Amino acid sequence: MHNPKLVIKEVSSSYVHHGRELPVLNAVSLHVEQGEFVSLLGPSGSGKSTLLKIIAGLLRPALGTVILNGKELNGRTVKMGYMPQKDLLLPWKSLLYNAALPLLVQGTGKKEAYGRVRKLLPVFGLEGFENCYPSQLSGGMRQRAALLRTVLIDSEVILLDEPFGALDALTRERLQEWLLQIWEQFKRSVLFITHSIDEAIYLSDRIYMISERPGKIVLEQVISLPRPRARDIVTSPLFTEYKQILMKSLANESI
Ligand SMILES: Nc1ncnc2c1ncn2[C@@H]1O[C@H](COP(=O)(O)OP(=O)(O)O)[C@@H](O)[C@H]1O
Ligand SMILES: [Mg+2]
Repeated sequence: MHNPKLVIKEVSSSYVHHGRELPVLNAVSLHVEQGEFVSLLGPSGSGKSTLLKIIAGLLRPALGTVILNGKELNGRTVKMGYMPQKDLLLPWKSLLYNAALPLLVQGTGKKEAYGRVRKLLPVFGLEGFENCYPSQLSGGMRQRAALLRTVLIDSEVILLDEPFGALDALTRERLQEWLLQIWEQFKRSVLFITHSIDEAIYLSDRIYMISERPGKIVLEQVISLPRPRARDIVTSPLFTEYKQILMKSLANESI
């Protein structure tokens, strides 16, 4: 660890369900360096979304700590760019309003908030669509709008919970490529959740594999593929090697 932006230390958590305790996370530790792209990869139900909610300050862990820039958060909510698993755009509001909402909630004036959204629209391929309602946008556009909103908040860490999970394969690949371009431009630290091995390898500098519930970290894998990454990198021998390592680990975890 050289310059950790975000450190998760021994976080454990459980839900109470029908009066019974359901352990969800088991002493999870991980870190994200300044400007690093890290993925958390694991089967569904392993507690990934729960962990992200804990980092975002929406849930308190039973045990453990979340440390941002060397300071313990202890449940304090800080400005963190968090994109939940569902995009949560308001159907009766325009793209412009939806994207500006977090700024408006923080007390930024309408004019400034809209101005900042407008500046980013071309970067996110949404120019000309600012007055559309979410139902008038394609799935990929809605996800880009939700990402724009997440990036707009001046946070150094961005938390993305399976942002491309519901998209068709082609749209998903295009958005992955596009996300890498954006990330190389903004250079924020990213913690990205996915259950796709290919997606995790293609995007990440480092991958943590989490086991089935109660989730614990079972593998940490550095991805040394060169950047910028063209799509055909997925056919390279090194990519295949990483894929084999991760598939083996996932298979061991899902018996
Ligand atoms: N609010 C809740 N109350 C009770 N159980 C929950 C709640 N949220 C999630 N769970 C359970 O906790 C486990 C982990 O959920 P989640 O963090 O959403 O996993 P993942 O994102 O990896 O799919 C699942 O078994 C899920 O059913
Ligand atoms: Mg989830």
